[in-house]
Amino acid sequence: MGEVRAASRGEALRFKPPDWKHACHVLLYAPCPGRLFGKIPLRYAVLMQMRFDGRLGFPGGFVDPQDASLEEGLSRELHEELGPGAALLQVTENDYLNAYISERPQRVVAHFYVKQLSLEELRTLEERAVQAKDHGLEVMGLLRVPLYILRDGVGGLPAFLSNTFISSARDQLIQALDVFQLVPKETLQKAVNVAQKTS
Ligand code: GTP
Ligand code: MN
Ligand code: MN
Ligand code: MN
Ligand code: MN
Ligand code: MN
Repeated sequence: MGEVRAASRGEALRFKPPDWKHACHVLLYAPCPGRLFGKIPLRYAVLMQMRFDGRLGFPGGFVDPQDASLEEGLSRELHEELGPGAALLQVTENDYLNAYISERPQRVVAHFYVKQLSLEELRTLEERAVQAKDHGLEVMGLLRVPLYILRDGVGGLPAFLSNTFISSARDQLIQALDVFQLVPKETLQKAVNVAQKTS
């Protein structure tokens, strides 16, 4: 991935376009009371997407010069990638987590947001995502991240983390799972360790 570093919003905004491109992506999640096989708690529904390039990432994209703010750029991208359900979402500066700054393959500041929804809102988003302009084109589908570890010690989150992710999306996922306590620390640490061994 080359050198990537995390930065605050203030620090990230000092990297100016057009030398630096800015992109915004969001992790959407909802508390999810269900159990897999009636047994394993699902904990939360966390959304990611399969991209056109076969890599996993979050909904969002480049902020264009016509976008009045980072959040308006994100909102436009969410309409393109998630479809009409995006109207349910109001992602604001309050949902900002941090930025990842990378110089290769191009100079990009990747702003990252995390937003909690109700399970009903998230399900509506999922249902309407197939109506998105980019569905079947830049976005091959939305998916939920398995947050548990199965008895074999690999299935679930460790196997998921062994997939290929775009740019710093894998770090963003792990960070959000940690900061928002979507997975117990011990489970997350174990999943990360196992994933490194199997990938
Ligand atoms: P186009 O407008 O068609 O180019 O696509 P887009 O605006 O949706 O851009 P996209 O989301 O594919 O990528 C914007 C930039 O962010 C690129 O540099 C990607 O490599 C990077 N990127 C894409 N998804 C993610 C993500 O989930 N996390 C991070 N950190 N970077 C991402
Ligand atoms: Mn079955
Ligand atoms: Mn897009
Ligand atoms: Mn995108
Ligand atoms: Mn775009
Ligand atoms: Mn596009």
